[in-house]
Amino acid sequence: TQFVHPCLPFNSSSSRRTCCGCGRRCVVKNEPVLGFKAGSEERAELEKALKELKGKTEDIPCVVGDEHVWTKEIRYQVSPFNHSHKVAKFCYADKELLNKAILAAVDARREWDLKPVADRAQVLFKAADVISGPKRAEVLAKTMIGQGKTVVQAEIDAAAELIDFFRFNAKHAIELQHQQPLNSDGSTNTMLYRGLEPPRGAVCGDGGFVGAVAPFNFTAIGGNLAGTPALMGNVVLWKPSDTAMSASYAVYKILRESGLPPNIVQFVPADGPVFGDTITASEHLAGINFTGSVPTFKRLWKQVAQNLDIYRNFPRVAGECGGKNFHFVHKSADIHSVAMGTIRSAFEYGGQKCSACSRMYVPDTLWPQIKKEMLDVHKQIRVGDPVEDFSTFFSAVIDQKSFARIEKWLDHAKSSPNLAVVAGGNCDDKKGYFVEPTIIETKDPEDSIMKEEIFGPVLTVYVYPEDRYRDVLRLIDNTSPYALTGAVFAQDKSVVAEAARALRNAAGNYYVNDKSTGSIVAQQPFGGSRASGTNDKPGGPHYVLRWTSPQVVKETHVPLTEWKYPYMG
Ligand SMILES: *[C@@H]1O[C@H](CO)[C@@H](O)[C@H](O)[C@H]1NC(C)=O
Ligand SMILES: *[C@@H]1O[C@H](CO)[C@@H](O)[C@H](O)[C@H]1NC(C)=O
Ligand SMILES: *[C@@H]1O[C@H](CO)[C@@H](O)[C@H](O)[C@H]1NC(C)=O
Repeated sequence: TQFVHPCLPFNSSSSRRTCCGCGRRCVVKNEPVLGFKAGSEERAELEKALKELKGKTEDIPCVVGDEHVWTKEIRYQVSPFNHSHKVAKFCYADKELLNKAILAAVDARREWDLKPVADRAQVLFKAADVISGPKRAEVLAKTMIGQGKTVVQAEIDAAAELIDFFRFNAKHAIELQHQQPLNSDGSTNTMLYRGLEPPRGAVCGDGGFVGAVAPFNFTAIGGNLAGTPALMGNVVLWKPSDTAMSASYAVYKILRESGLPPNIVQFVPADGPVFGDTITASEHLAGINFTGSVPTFKRLWKQVAQNLDIYRNFPRVAGECGGKNFHFVHKSADIHSVAMGTIRSAFEYGGQKCSACSRMYVPDTLWPQIKKEMLDVHKQIRVGDPVEDFSTFFSAVIDQKSFARIEKWLDHAKSSPNLAVVAGGNCDDKKGYFVEPTIIETKDPEDSIMKEEIFGPVLTVYVYPEDRYRDVLRLIDNTSPYALTGAVFAQDKSVVAEAARALRNAAGNYYVNDKSTGSIVAQQPFGGSRASGTNDKPGGPHYVLRWTSPQVVKETHVPLTEWKYPYMG
């Protein structure tokens, strides 16, 4: 088959081109992160978009096919830093609507799956260009107001990462077509990359769907969650997060406007358990991609297991469930970069990234200096309204539930004899769900605060006797059930090597002399194992394979003329 290059027309004056000329390879680069300095063009556009959204409430329906549906179960998304501002009014799809969406999706699947991958990839290339250009400000503004992100946090997520996901996954999907088996004399072998669960028999339109459950913390994840399986020929039920509704809907509309046909991705906000119960009870379930908590993921997986007999195949289940990420500091570490990296990793976006550092191990000889540097920065950190005040470092946490959970941890820190609050420790939810950046010192490295995910701006430090670092490496590996990200700070090369061995299974994304956050698509494909998830590494080239069910075709050109083997004669 002839390779079709999905080369899009691009504006040659722009550096944001998605494709090379028309060579065989598609050259995709990471989207540049814009600076938003005062006076810049992007800053003016963003401020305009923010102003337009001020005080507004957007109506967001469920979208099944081309139909906008309102059910009676109305919900609101509020702004985390001003919860009296209702950002969006939306509704929950009920079981009936979800089942309708499943059937409509499954019906559209056959034709979609038969399209050349380059055609499907066009949708993502186009959507990436639209987000990179005309819709950038809108998607950023909705991410800032709805999810409480600062300018830079919104930019690295809703612009850069989402654009990268779309472009790189599209490129990877196209390149996958080149991964073909060997041919031999007289026969040709072809690998066809089909969507999951090919249609059964001659029943037209029969096939499976992927259920995508998205988290609030990354607009990019929501988009990718829905976009990647669609790219690979699947149909998707996308359950966006209640607290990321506005930005998710903007991305959904961009996908549709970029050529995604109706019914390929159904936009169905829903109550979590209702969604989970409904999709796992459908015989058409082909896969689930989940991001969220361990208990919810386990619940879904168990439901899938329970229902195995009703499915037509074994559903693919992928999940990312968080972490308890560490910074390990050796006495040979560069102190300044430890302090700066830890402040950023622990507090950016209020610690609501799965990769955020929440436990740090520091030698006693370095702690006084590191602590001093961190406390100096701590005094300057502004926690507030990221729209009104661009000098805000991070804003409120996402919702009341999250706030209450973090407050409990702060109470635990204040009341436990092992723990001492070194900085911060307070929270206030009168206007928004604000939590101070908090640094805690623990005498007990096995305290629950060193084990469990907090998902807030809370960092706990364990200070160890300088020469006991080997014990500490073992401790880090064994303390928490998670294994998502972790960082080692050391100038001593032999210690770097030793730590890499000791922590080989403690993190799926491991950093040396760098903070534990900030992975970039195609540079650090992301994910961890143990309780952190199935480690499928979205952002990497092999990821798209998770969402295909390849078919190998052998065609023989020389007829077989004999049934006996020569030795038999
Ligand atoms: C919070 O939102 C409400 C409702 O939109 C608005 O009246 C008020 O001015 C906002 N407060 C701030 C501090 O922005
Ligand atoms: C699965 O979820 C991850 C986030 O955890 C996301 O980046 C990825 O795009 C999703 N994949 C699919 C195929 O839905
Ligand atoms: C996003 O938040 C969810 C919790 O809702 C968490 O499980 C997940 O790990 C987070 N993902 C990232 C990439 O931060």
